[in-house]
Amino acid sequence: MNIYLIGMPGCGKSTVGKTLAKKSEYQYVDLDKYIETKNSKTIPDIFNEVGEVGFRQLEQDALKDFSEKDNYIVSCGGGIISNSENKKLMNGKVIYIDVPIKSLKKRLASDAANARPMFKTKTVEELYKERKDQYNYFMDYKVYNHRVNDCVKKILELVSEKMKKILVINGPNLNMLGKRDENQYGAKTLEDIYNMIKAENYFEYEFFQSNHEGAIIDKIQQYKCDAIIINAGAYTHTSIALHDCLEIVKVPKVEVHLSDVDNREDFRKVNFIRSVCDKTISGLREQSYIEAIKYLKKTL
Ligand code: DQA
Repeated sequence: MNIYLIGMPGCGKSTVGKTLAKKSEYQYVDLDKYIETKNSKTIPDIFNEVGEVGFRQLEQDALKDFSEKDNYIVSCGGGIISNSENKKLMNGKVIYIDVPIKSLKKRLASDAANARPMFKTKTVEELYKERKDQYNYFMDYKVYNHRVNDCVKKILELVSEKMKKILVINGPNLNMLGKRDENQYGAKTLEDIYNMIKAENYFEYEFFQSNHEGAIIDKIQQYKCDAIIINAGAYTHTSIALHDCLEIVKVPKVEVHLSDVDNREDFRKVNFIRSVCDKTISGLREQSYIEAIKYLKKTL
């Protein structure tokens, strides 16, 4: 998991981020500096050469690099929120550092940030107004930066709150999604579904897929998680062993199906796992998994 700091230029992301790194196991990175090093150019040069659109692409590429890493405090450029897709790349907690506009102006007056390309065309107020809603959309938490140490303390409290872990199990033939009957199962691959799930980033996820009944049972028996989402595929309709195994596990369990199993062939109406799950969601294609997560968000 990473920590992403977002907020207006001058809100103190760098100072807060560096202090946070000293007081935690996380490593600090300034995304703008990372982009400069990666591309061997300064930000103003990048803006001059490829404009804002080109810069935003490089920024997204940089964010992607960190979405595959762990334990970083990523201090993001103020405009990271201009592309909503960037939110999906933030694998961890997003902290919006807010500062009253008055203090922001004061800070920027004596700050090199004032020379940033953005301020050539807009005032601080205009930019703040324009971006505020997007910061709120991106954030998991908002922290006010009156004093750096208080702000850091608050962030440490927020991120140390242990993220709950969900084990997502998929049974036989679900590794073939994308090649199966689109009318029943939709067009998404299992990988696409994993990515959709990961974007619901208030939980940590472990994904497990197997075509073997015994392997699924072994996995469930060794569970180390706060809840299970299971699409048991055809084993739903055949496996008493899976029923018995799920019955033992004392965490919330959600049965999901892409298709509407209760309104298909008669043999799919036989269901051995429903009675030992807390909830069933079926027939919504890939959205069934997302609804399962929403259910767990409410109940856990
Ligand atoms: C399924 C429904 C099952 O009947 C079928 O065997 C599957 C997928 C679903 O997600 O709709 O493999 O679980």
